[in-house]
Amino acid sequence: MADKLRVGIIGCGAGRFHARGYARLPEVEVVALADVNPERFRHITEEIPVPRLYTSYEELLAQDDIDAVSIALPNFLHAPATLAALEAGKHVLVEKPLATKVEDGEKMVEAARRTGRKLMICFNYRFRGDSQVIKRQIEAGRLGDIYFARAGWLRQSGIPGIGSWFTDKERSGGGPLMDLGVHVLDLALWFMGAPEPIAVSGATYAAFGPRGRGSWRFARFEPGSDGFTVEDMATGYVRFANGATLSLEVSWASYTRHPDDYYVHLFGTEGGAELNVHQYGFTDTVRLFGEAAGTFMEMKPQYTPEGGHDKAIEEFVRCILEDREPSPSGEDGLRVLRIVDALYRSAEVGHEVTI
Ligand SMILES: NC(=O)c1ccc[n+]([C@@H]2O[C@H](COP(=O)([O-])OP(=O)(O)OC[C@H]3O[C@@H](n4cnc5c(N)ncnc54)[C@H](O)[C@@H]3O)[C@@H](O)[C@H]2O)c1
Repeated sequence: MADKLRVGIIGCGAGRFHARGYARLPEVEVVALADVNPERFRHITEEIPVPRLYTSYEELLAQDDIDAVSIALPNFLHAPATLAALEAGKHVLVEKPLATKVEDGEKMVEAARRTGRKLMICFNYRFRGDSQVIKRQIEAGRLGDIYFARAGWLRQSGIPGIGSWFTDKERSGGGPLMDLGVHVLDLALWFMGAPEPIAVSGATYAAFGPRGRGSWRFARFEPGSDGFTVEDMATGYVRFANGATLSLEVSWASYTRHPDDYYVHLFGTEGGAELNVHQYGFTDTVRLFGEAAGTFMEMKPQYTPEGGHDKAIEEFVRCILEDREPSPSGEDGLRVLRIVDALYRSAEVGHEVTI
């Protein structure tokens, strides 16, 4: 490895969050970008100078001097690009969801193991100060055993582009469950200590998208694509081997009080916690519940109101430089994908399914 870690970014939409994260780190150099649409390079290059620009990711991966890549492509390309990158000897930070199919996710985890390269999934919400403070309380035993979690992400009008790859099941793998649900599922599982899911019941709805309603303010439209073949709301219930359960609700569009809010509520034998994030805000997002001297307590902890992609990227870089296993790992991405897949299967057959 050269004196600096040399990184490439594949996909220059959300890839710009990655570029910003790497640019903060003196031990890293962003040396290349890849995107089929050259118009997209300037999303990054206007802010951060990058010397080499490629219109195919295969070309970027063929560069021997690149140590690691971030992959921020449409979901169906996560698996082929990650597999190609690992085989080319690069460490990979892949955007969520891990893949659109469980089999592909399994191949990605296996390839990372076999090649000895790092595979991290960008569940960036773990790295916010509010999530970290809850995790610390759990690790200190303040919640006892967590036996139930309620997780959700609800938007009033937030379909990210009717007619874009997001709303085409083939390319996205699904609607808000794949897009938003994976984040809150991961948070809940991480808080709960990664219990093993065994049975899942789910339902999906498409009340807005097929009628051309519920689009987001940043929505893109890609002419020539197939319209709306995913859900715009999903609900679910997950049973774990240790007896704990989780309920989930996600929507891109719904008549609700929540414009664009996510939450994870935890119920434990010694205490409880609520994370309530309103429109990506950082203030007043955590409440802890417990008991002291016979009195029920509601507590408002202090934390650093920051985090997200920058911290996730820092963790990826540290794991490479210090040769540690990344967390969230490919396996964490796969655990979430297995639940999402089972929720879709259950929604299709109309009853609970096993994992
Ligand atoms: N972690 C987060 O909070 C977060 C936020 C936003 C997006 N994402 C994830 O990032 C990924 C990308 O989302 P987005 O919003 O940037 O989508 P997008 O459509 O805006 O960007 C995808 C980019 O990939 C490019 N692309 C498509 N096919 C390509 C190919 N074969 N080779 C090279 N480039 C190709 C497109 O031209 C486009 O610039 C998704 O998986 C999404 O789930 C994650």
